[in-house]
Amino acid sequence: MSKSGSTLPPGSPELLLPHWDPSQPRRAQLEAGLREAIRAGRLRPDTRLPSSRALASELGVSRRLVVETYEQLAAEGYVLSRRGSGTRVAPPTDASRNWGAPAVAPPPVPAPVEGIDLFPGAPDLSLFPRRAWGRALRHALAALPDSRLSYGELAGTAELRVALAEHLGRVRAADAAPDRVVVTAGYQQGLRLFCQLVRGRGGRRIAVEDPGYPIAGWTIESERLEVVPIPIDDDGIDVAALAAAAPDAVVVTPAHALPLGAVLAPERRRRLVAWARASDALVLEDDYDAELRYDRGPAGTLQGLAPDAVVLAGTTSKTLAPALRLGWLLLPPELVPTIVTARAMDDGGGPRIEELALAQLISSGAFDRHVRAARQRYRAKRAVLLEALADALPDAHVRGIAAGLHVVLELPGDAEEAAIVAQAKRGGVHIHGLASFSRRHAQPPGLVLGYGLPGERDLRQAVAVIAAAIQGSARPAGSAPATQGS
Ligand SMILES: Cc1ncc(COP(=O)(O)O)c(C=O)c1O
Repeated sequence: MSKSGSTLPPGSPELLLPHWDPSQPRRAQLEAGLREAIRAGRLRPDTRLPSSRALASELGVSRRLVVETYEQLAAEGYVLSRRGSGTRVAPPTDASRNWGAPAVAPPPVPAPVEGIDLFPGAPDLSLFPRRAWGRALRHALAALPDSRLSYGELAGTAELRVALAEHLGRVRAADAAPDRVVVTAGYQQGLRLFCQLVRGRGGRRIAVEDPGYPIAGWTIESERLEVVPIPIDDDGIDVAALAAAAPDAVVVTPAHALPLGAVLAPERRRRLVAWARASDALVLEDDYDAELRYDRGPAGTLQGLAPDAVVLAGTTSKTLAPALRLGWLLLPPELVPTIVTARAMDDGGGPRIEELALAQLISSGAFDRHVRAARQRYRAKRAVLLEALADALPDAHVRGIAAGLHVVLELPGDAEEAAIVAQAKRGGVHIHGLASFSRRHAQPPGLVLGYGLPGERDLRQAVAVIAAAIQGSARPAGSAPATQGS
């Protein structure tokens, strides 16, 4: 933009403004050019800008245009204009401050990966009922009056709460009523609101199953509460250890534990409820994949047994898709207002149109039909996985096959779990070792294999890669262990 043979006084900054664009107003271009030069540090703080007269002459524009530009940049805080000392670049603002490390280290969150992903619990995304969802969305939009496009309905739409209460009562033997349902952005938000509820009651410590769902622990910590890891065995959480630890609340997965697959045994259910009532502790029941079971009848919810002490949390992430971010809490009545207020403060309420679509999907019966069909697909995929494992690793033992979207492949006691996971990854297969689910209570080595997401061919190929990784890592008796990750 500068003409050759500068008329700027000596010492004037090199402004580095771009060439004029004839289609844009010059003042806007000059403003943008100066802003950008200041932001990028080409014009450093306290640098004196040319006088309006000198710059106008240099650029071949009116002096008034430059004066107005300087005034605008002064109003925005980029420059300071003082009588007598001209116009100078302002000192840096807070925007350039170093905020330091985040208070809580960001945990690894699930994300798509290259290769074959055996992420435990990931559903088959190709099963998403696009047609039925599209119909439900159109139905929701057609029925929605303009007035309902505003704020409000913070507990979720009445239609969805009615549909969920009926569904949870019928399918999950829950003690449900629409006015005790609060719709959430997936289980994740339900858990977070639950943490806030516990803290609001003066609680400081929340127990989790160990091994368990890692994100639950990270969420509790991110809400500045202490995580209390409690061991879990084939009958579910160890209630005696829980009572001894005396937390303010506990998060459990009674229908199907991640990763070991336990169903909470009837006697433990009774003892867990008795403990919660006696110690005024709250129980959060994570019912994330309860609809997906293959070889046994569904275990009813703990909430149905003790609606006064248990908050039931559900999600559409397994039955439909994680991208919907739709879940729910079923609460004792006295906790509803606190949770609704917390949701209002968190994100101002849910996506009304999608909530109405889900209500329509459930009440029309399309959701039940979809879940029945999905169950058949997962049963078939599970058979492929188990057959491939039996062929490739005839001595291997597989646990937790009755329900859900993952199994646990037990490894020999001296196996290097981390090395096998790393080797499989090099072969393009993403798996997790049991260790990544444990906080305090280490498990014998094992691999957690999700079979929901990959197709059958990929499942077979994944098993071949995993089997080779296991066999390649096997050590002759008496040799030294390999280093982790090698
Ligand atoms: C144990 C457990 N709970 C809950 C969820 C679902 O969470 P969200 O509804 O936030 O997707 C998952 C998903 O992987 C899970 O494994």
